[in-house]
Amino acid sequence: MKKKSAPRTIVEDTLVPHAAFNGALRRIEQCFAYADSAREPICIALIGETRTGKSRAMEEFSTRHPSIRNGEGLYIPILRVTTPAKPTVKSLVELMLERMHDELSESGSENAKTRRLVKLMDECGTQMVMIDEFHHFVDKGSHKVIHDVANWLKTLVDRIRCVLIVAGLPTCQAVLEQNEQLEGRFSAPVMMPRFEWKIDEHREEFIAILSAFHESMSRYFDLPELDNADMAFRCYCATGGLMGYLTKFLRQVVWNALDSGKRKITLGDLAIAHDEAVWAKHGPRGLPNPFTKNFQSTPNEDLIERIRMIGVPLEQETQKRRRVSPPKKMKVTEVLSTA
Ligand SMILES: Nc1ncnc2c1ncn2[C@@H]1O[C@H](COP(=O)(O)OP(=O)(O)OP(=O)(O)O)[C@@H](O)[C@H]1O
Ligand SMILES: [Mg+2]
Repeated sequence: MKKKSAPRTIVEDTLVPHAAFNGALRRIEQCFAYADSAREPICIALIGETRTGKSRAMEEFSTRHPSIRNGEGLYIPILRVTTPAKPTVKSLVELMLERMHDELSESGSENAKTRRLVKLMDECGTQMVMIDEFHHFVDKGSHKVIHDVANWLKTLVDRIRCVLIVAGLPTCQAVLEQNEQLEGRFSAPVMMPRFEWKIDEHREEFIAILSAFHESMSRYFDLPELDNADMAFRCYCATGGLMGYLTKFLRQVVWNALDSGKRKITLGDLAIAHDEAVWAKHGPRGLPNPFTKNFQSTPNEDLIERIRMIGVPLEQETQKRRRVSPPKKMKVTEVLSTA
């Protein structure tokens, strides 16, 4: 069968509703549905390592509940913002005002701006506030929570009695732990995982994700089956089980094929795309390119252990290693001799 000509955005256009992703949307939807009748704010944190799909989940949810302008005015059910790198009350309130289409977002005192924001949210029927990159509420240098901004946010959601969804790296849990009042308003977090090869459900899920991408791409290209045991392990090694690294790699595969006018994608093409796409600032160095012919695609402990560190900042690597392989119990004599 003749293949159709491919759009450059095949990978971006493929949304894979994997279990964690669906689970996150379901929890958010549940809160949204109860927002109207809630007597107190409902808050949930979406937590996961970098590139696990937190922003995509929030984006997907807000596109399902779009803003509408009708005869009665503007309806903005969800106010979604990304925390600035060093948030202050001023920067956050101005950003939110802007999103609410306030034309004078920079004018007035902090209090006046906050009052305007509350009024606008009320008038526009805003039921949910989504805050991405919530870990920026923790100061990078001092590791302390920026309490005035956290308190301001708490007061805002109390006044509106809306749903608050925050998303961020695991470090954002510190914001909640260090701010009792905010913590008390939060339900259990939703975790967005990276897919671990050694956990059966994760591996199966990762392979199902590869199937979904293979299906989209094979409408336009002849390419190796991504979801057989050999290729799935290679893809895992290329991406560390991180959704964002997988999409970045596959996007490069598509672009290269389109630019060279090829309909057939080979293992060699995957190897080239991998070299071009996967550049991780963090994580282990010197990993093999898993799409070369001589790559040993039989899983082994040592390799899997190194692959799990893809995307993990150096300072967290040791902690992560410790979490998975707890140290052997040492005998008293051994402890004394290492002291
Ligand atoms: N379920 C999914 N289906 C298809 N693509 C996805 C899915 N989840 C994430 N992606 C894609 O993976 C990439 C990374 O996702 P996203 O930006 O949401 O990660 P993140 O957890 O917010 O990362 P960061 O912490 O670095 O901001 C994006 O290009 C996104 O479109
Ligand atoms: Mg993000």
